[in-house]
Amino acid sequence: MLRLIDLTAGYGAAPVLRGVSLEVEKGEVVTLLGPNGAGKSTLMAAITGTLSLRDGGVHLHDENLVKKSCHYIVSSGISLVPEGRLVFAPFSVEDNLRLGAIRLRGDLRERYAFVFNLFPRLAERRRQAAGTLSGGEQQMLAIGRALMSAPRLLLLDEPFLGLAPMVVAEIRASLEKLREAGLTMLMVEQKLDIALSFASRAYVLIKGRIALSDSTASLARRADLQDLYFALATGKA
Ligand SMILES: Nc1ncnc2c1ncn2[C@@H]1O[C@H](COP(=O)(O)OP(=O)(O)O)[C@@H](O)[C@H]1O
Ligand SMILES: [Mg+2]
Repeated sequence: MLRLIDLTAGYGAAPVLRGVSLEVEKGEVVTLLGPNGAGKSTLMAAITGTLSLRDGGVHLHDENLVKKSCHYIVSSGISLVPEGRLVFAPFSVEDNLRLGAIRLRGDLRERYAFVFNLFPRLAERRRQAAGTLSGGEQQMLAIGRALMSAPRLLLLDEPFLGLAPMVVAEIRASLEKLREAGLTMLMVEQKLDIALSFASRAYVLIKGRIALSDSTASLARRADLQDLYFALATGKA
């Protein structure tokens, strides 16, 4: 479904991503691991077109999106849950969700129902300002907003960051429902245990390059797994 070919991207003179190639098949859940500063969020920005300095291939099915605008990319079916949630604090839950549906071609009420069914807490708080929600609820809203465009591919950038274990479990259960329903996902994660148990395949990004790619089942059995923990914590491969 998604195929990155030799993707190079950055913000200025020196590229952050240096020839990244990866694939996500339809229905697959893939995780992107990597230490702080490796370029994981930059990769999300390069896929979704919010970063204009990019080169190489970003193919969704057979179309190269590398020169397309972010609006076009959302319309093509890619939706991002950004790092740090970025909900619009003064706006209500419902208005935040509606913003996610700007590029929606289908039925708006059906999308609200889908999101409220997945996150009943958002339904209870639909008229509440997003800024007054708990961190976990804001993350639910960020995921809900991304789902409002009825994406074919959902990108998640560290969705569990800074959340208490009980909230992590709750959000994870909702993401598992999406996975069981066949939604294709690429999830950035720094914690190896979450990544290995949630996804079926993993890529490890270190200093803007893919250092390792494997199935999570095979990664979990690797004798050098401790080295990977170390690399993720320190950035030293
Ligand atoms: N807006 C920006 N302008 C310039 N450099 C940036 C910007 N955002 C990130 N960087 C740099 O790009 C590199 C990768 O950052 P990022 O993609 O956020 O890493 P990660 O998400 O893996 O922690 C870092 O060196 C960071 O300082
Ligand atoms: Mg990041």
